[in-house]
Amino acid sequence: MNNTESGGLPSHIAFIMDGNGRWAKKRGLPRNAGHKKGGDTFREIARHAKDCGIKYVTFFAFSTENWKRPKEEVDALMKLFSEYLDEAENYAKDKTRLIFLGDKSIFPREMSAKMVDLEKKSKQFSDFTLSLAVNYGGKDDILQAARRAANLCRDRDLTPQDIDERFFSGLLYTSALPDVDLLIRPGGERRLSNFLLWQCAYAELYFSDILWPDFGKKGLETAIEYYKGRNRRFGNVQGAAI
Ligand code: IPE
Ligand code: IPE
Ligand code: MG
Repeated sequence: MNNTESGGLPSHIAFIMDGNGRWAKKRGLPRNAGHKKGGDTFREIARHAKDCGIKYVTFFAFSTENWKRPKEEVDALMKLFSEYLDEAENYAKDKTRLIFLGDKSIFPREMSAKMVDLEKKSKQFSDFTLSLAVNYGGKDDILQAARRAANLCRDRDLTPQDIDERFFSGLLYTSALPDVDLLIRPGGERRLSNFLLWQCAYAELYFSDILWPDFGKKGLETAIEYYKGRNRRFGNVQGAAI
């Protein structure tokens, strides 16, 4: 249910983890060193969000457009992701539900099987859900959902009129998640870069010039404070009951 009262915590925070390369460059380090440090920040922020009582966090780790980068950088990012998949086996003890958003079919079989397995094993946990978007694109998400809807109309007892907002949301990669309440983009850019286009329809947007590897607990807390001050109207007028 939408809430127009200001002051509450966001239920779902999404992060565009941007600025790793520039963080490294500023220090005379290779870009991949920035990605490694960015990985540390990702772990720190996920833990802190959980401690703050946030129920859903989603991180943009690799976009459908990021394949354009030099092979050496893509390989390094995939290696970091693969290491994370191994480490994530331990998340069961943290009672964290893990979800991987994006087209998994592009990854080596062993990796995609690990993702599916982690999702299955952690499905029972409902207090805290961590989603990682890899090979994710907002347009790709909407297209794959549209294709599935078209197939359902062709093969099953579904008519185009049955496809309402709720039904369509259930076909997106994010079917298990509520819409985004707060989108956080550090790194200085003020754009969505093809992230969660449908799901951010009514998100509050928070941009920061801090580069992702430096976006620590304080960065998250400042963004949450900003969110608490927003008045979310969802098209209604202020003060009206929904
Ligand atoms: C974000 O940092 C990480 C990914 C996109 C994988 P960047 O690598 O985009 O860092 P900048 O924007 O070049 O500094
Ligand atoms: C967005 O960052 C993608 C991720 C953080 C994974 P980019 O660095 O790829 O975005 P652009 O190219 O500046 O739009
Ligand atoms: Mg970038």
